[in-house]
Amino acid sequence: MNKNPNQSVIASPANKMSGTKQSPNSKDTSIRGLLRTDGIRTGSKSVLAMTVVAVALFSSCNTDPQKPGWAYFPDMAYSQAYETYSANPNFEDGQTARQPVPGTIARGVLPDNPAVDDEAFEKSYFLKKYYPETPEGYEAAGAELKNPVTLNDQTLADGKKTYEIYCMVCHGEKGDGQGSIVQGGAFPPVSPYSTLLKDKQEGKMFHSITYGRNLMGSYAPLVSAEDRWKVIYYIQKLSGMGRYQSQPADSADASANAKTK
Ligand code: HEC
Repeated sequence: MNKNPNQSVIASPANKMSGTKQSPNSKDTSIRGLLRTDGIRTGSKSVLAMTVVAVALFSSCNTDPQKPGWAYFPDMAYSQAYETYSANPNFEDGQTARQPVPGTIARGVLPDNPAVDDEAFEKSYFLKKYYPETPEGYEAAGAELKNPVTLNDQTLADGKKTYEIYCMVCHGEKGDGQGSIVQGGAFPPVSPYSTLLKDKQEGKMFHSITYGRNLMGSYAPLVSAEDRWKVIYYIQKLSGMGRYQSQPADSADASANAKTK
């Protein structure tokens, strides 16, 4: 019983469409009909002519890969900007290339700051120049480099921040080598600082943090020379090593190194 009404519903739109196509009005919606309403006399000849013109236009695009052909919006392909070393009437000095803003510090150049105007700072800043990545460089850094950063609450706090960002994942919150990636099994066991830093001159630590040591990578690209010294203060304090060692073998030397505020 239901099938018959359904069939008629499906059939009726089809009937309507075929009916519309056959109606005289439908001719006006064709291309010919539209053109005719604009007053242009069209026939199969002019449609053919238009097609020929269109084909001719499109085929006139340049096929030579060495030539750009016609550029649409050429401003985007050919910049109107001044060349770096060309004259420029828009600036008083007539140069297109501008001078750096006064006070700009070039990358890798030690800022001219009296507070860090210190030979040890200079040498640690340019560590790779003075102490190569060799056992000799390591020993020499250990013998000669002393922490040039002033030790106070602020520098310790800065060191802690660096430590938590870059070092804690391996060395652990307490410096015991139980960092999250070690505990998670992604990194082989790391010795605690009490072992790693034992009787170790801070110049060696600085050398290791700068170049990396065995499984530990270099932190020079991530942590500035100043921050590497600050983090050394922090790891010494954290593990009670170095200047914080209760009974260091070279206690006189260790306390002499500690520049207090
Ligand atoms: C990916 C894990 C990992 C990270 C992160 C890491 N370390 Fe290490 N670190 C090690 C390992 C492993 C050693 C032991 C290297 C050896 O002697 O074989 C080590 C050794 C050291 C030593 C002793 C170096 C020496 O001369 O014997 C210092 C100091 C040190 N790390 C400081 C840091 C500081 C500071 C950071 C953060 C800036 C840091 N580490 C980040 C794994 C790491």
